[in-house]
Amino acid sequence: MLDHNSRRENRASVNNQPSTNPSIALKVEKLSKVFESAAGKVFALKQINFTINKGEFVSIIGPSGSGKSTLLNMIGALDRPTFGKVFIGGVDIFSLKDHEIASMRNTMIGFIFQSFNLINRTTVQKNVEIPSIISCTSGEGKERTQRALKILDVLGIKDKAKFKPTSLSGGQQQRVAIARSLMNNPTIILADEPTGNLDTKTGNEVFDLLKLLSTKFRRTIVMVTHNDELAEKTDRSIYIRDGRVEKEVTN
Ligand SMILES: Nc1ncnc2c1ncn2[C@@H]1O[C@H](COP(=O)(O)OP(=O)(O)O)[C@@H](O)[C@H]1O
Ligand SMILES: [Mg+2]
Repeated sequence: MLDHNSRRENRASVNNQPSTNPSIALKVEKLSKVFESAAGKVFALKQINFTINKGEFVSIIGPSGSGKSTLLNMIGALDRPTFGKVFIGGVDIFSLKDHEIASMRNTMIGFIFQSFNLINRTTVQKNVEIPSIISCTSGEGKERTQRALKILDVLGIKDKAKFKPTSLSGGQQQRVAIARSLMNNPTIILADEPTGNLDTKTGNEVFDLLKLLSTKFRRTIVMVTHNDELAEKTDRSIYIRDGRVEKEVTN
């Protein structure tokens, strides 16, 4: 159901594309963001640089207010930088037209948020289908439903398909959000404190699912977290402080 990305394929294409490195999923170059607020300017991000390889699971760690969500929102093109660039698959995304950015975001990036962000008036299954409805992918309604149910099955909550999200536990709701993030088979998954609203045990279970997506399905994952223990289980941790990269640690 989730297409495996083949390592061999990546290697084979190296010689075909000398201008862009095909093993790089994501590159952030001098990324800066200034918010204008009533109290004055807030320099949320100051010239952030880093590269994330395809299939890598990277954690972003830093104190509250250090710019982590702002950074993730730029990577996912939910907001525009004041200065600097984000490259996804070698494409300078903010050089694209708005509708192209929206399309790229919908098909290449899956989002998971701390507060799940599910639509409570509809079913779990419909929530999972939403990205596909927006982008008109996965064919007809029946095909779409089948794909949603398959993903829910892999994540162990197929039996909740007809339930409303509010009748589920926090851990189950986050699984629904993960299922939704996978609906359009994105190459990059961005998760902003996905375990932040969960107790330790449930948080660990949700993290293990993300780890599975990384190891088994080779998704590129960027996860913001406050949890050092979880961060240590990712491939690499990028520490953010006052809008700057403080250090990078390979785990
Ligand atoms: N829309 C906004 N308008 C003004 N300031 C903002 C906005 N979003 C974030 N900020 C400010 O930018 C800084 C970084 O915020 P944020 O990225 O949310 O940090 P984190 O996710 O690390 O807690 C903070 O000082 C915050 O108050
Ligand atoms: Mg945040």
